[in-house]
Amino acid sequence: MEAEPTRILLDSGKIASRVRELAEEINDTYLGEPLTIVGVLDGCLIFLADLVRRLRMPMELVLVRVKTYLDADTPQKKPVIPPDDLARVAGGRVLVVDDIYDTGATLAALKLELLRVGAIDVKLCVLLEKDAPHKHEATLDFRGFAIPDVFVVGYGLDYAGRYRNLPHIAELEQSANL
Ligand code: IMP
Ligand code: MG
Repeated sequence: MEAEPTRILLDSGKIASRVRELAEEINDTYLGEPLTIVGVLDGCLIFLADLVRRLRMPMELVLVRVKTYLDADTPQKKPVIPPDDLARVAGGRVLVVDDIYDTGATLAALKLELLRVGAIDVKLCVLLEKDAPHKHEATLDFRGFAIPDVFVVGYGLDYAGRYRNLPHIAELEQSANL
């Protein structure tokens, strides 16, 4: 089965200007207070790199993964915070940065885990929110764009490991001739 990114939903200029606005919203919220930014690998990478260079508070960066286990009746999300980074989270104000909010399971599980290990405040920032029936309510504090319920790639988002390097965000469509 072939799939190719075709329709461009968000070009690089539009993304860049919205990322600048989001950074200002975040600067206005934290007003120079120290912050721990928790990026969700791998999809956050491009967005995170562009966003943090526009933030002005003192900060530390922690990169985490959220693994999915499919053996249960419903898929389970297991956040993995590197043990050496726990001290950066415990007692701190945390801003989670991820690429996309789809069902919300990833961010709901991660927020719970960050609070469990001692974060005093956890806010959530995503570039994209899908207009999908959300199964896990994790309230977003900062959101770049609302998009339709389609599969998208580019600007860090992948399909089977590909297309993360596209400078824009495109819809991935199945080829009609296959
Ligand atoms: P959620 O837990 O259902 O909210 O899914 C979030 C994760 O699924 C994101 O961090 C992405 O890694 C992945 N994902 C969901 N939708 C898309 C998409 O349209 N393109 C690429 N990855 C996606
Ligand atoms: Mg992800």
